[in-house]
Amino acid sequence: MSIERALELVDRSPGNGYPNPTVGAVVVAADGTTLGEGVTEPAGGRHAEVVALDEAGAGAGGATLFVTMEPCAHHGRTPPCVDRILESHVARVVAGCRDPSPSGGGGAVRLRQAGVETELLDLREARRQNEAWRTWAALGRPYVILKLALSVDGRAAVPRRRWVSGVAARRRVHELRASVDAVGVGMGTVHADAPRLDARDVPVVRPPRRLAFGRGPLPDGSELELRSGRTEEELGALAAEGVQSLLLEGGPTIAASFLAHGWVDRLLVFVAPVLAGGGPAGLGELPEPLDLGEPTVELVGADVLLDWRLRDEV
Ligand SMILES: NC(=O)c1ccc[n+]([C@@H]2O[C@H](COP(=O)([O-])OP(=O)(O)OC[C@H]3O[C@@H](n4cnc5c(N)ncnc54)[C@H](OP(=O)(O)O)[C@@H]3O)[C@@H](O)[C@H]2O)c1
Repeated sequence: MSIERALELVDRSPGNGYPNPTVGAVVVAADGTTLGEGVTEPAGGRHAEVVALDEAGAGAGGATLFVTMEPCAHHGRTPPCVDRILESHVARVVAGCRDPSPSGGGGAVRLRQAGVETELLDLREARRQNEAWRTWAALGRPYVILKLALSVDGRAAVPRRRWVSGVAARRRVHELRASVDAVGVGMGTVHADAPRLDARDVPVVRPPRRLAFGRGPLPDGSELELRSGRTEEELGALAAEGVQSLLLEGGPTIAASFLAHGWVDRLLVFVAPVLAGGGPAGLGELPEPLDLGEPTVELVGADVLLDWRLRDEV
């Protein structure tokens, strides 16, 4: 089915449209021939629908446009896709998910009002392709991934060891750092571990900002950026500065606080094959137990990675 082809186009170039969502589009003629395909071009470039319609040319008249997200109806850096779609005279639009942003939404309604048969699906796969952007656009805070590394007995540190997790898990964390806009820790971790929080020995397109949450001051020599306001306000300010995704790497106190406030969208727990026998608890107190549901489980080296999405995606 062509919506699957549109999803596949995004899977092949994830994040291509950053800081815009990355969307895929396919124009298909009534006889099933593909007339045009496209993915969102990098910032300031064409949206996927426009790329696909440009390729289809005059043949788009009467065709179906499959697109992974509802076409935008607003003037951003480029004119609304809805206008371009109407000019193309496609007969039908099938969109994989709605646009959750207050400014961009409403495209499906406008298309229907203009007489274009429009189907708005709600495909989880389509939403997941831009989950960070969707949370940022809809909630006005970064999409937060909380990562914890624990011993089998639930400790956040192992006596006389620098690291809890193994080499492969640590490499995975560096890949995660390279995939987000910011990485952060609480001030207790700054004092205990003096982390650099940079993405090392992995390909990095945009180095993440490196944040310390707490009152400060930072210890001498720390290169982290101190965020000392109320956490909720700091999250809003970071979002306004364009931080769409934040990897929070603990420690236990700030982790519990983020969980208790409902600010964690995805929880990653690396469980290392060690019984620490002592050391700090893996997580601070929560006001009440939090059911996590079924995780995705993966072996990363000798560590077990448990992966939960805590929010039904926006
Ligand atoms: N295994 C792991 O995944 C992992 C990860 C990190 C750290 N650790 C370990 O954890 C230990 C440190 O634990 P910790 O609990 O002291 O560290 P933490 O959670 O990193 O730091 C707690 C501090 O963060 C600041 N903070 C800022 N916003 C906060 C908020 N919304 N809620 C709560 N606190 C906030 C507060 O500092 P102010 O008082 O300055 O405001 C608070 O005292 C170390 O042993 C370290 O090695 C383990």
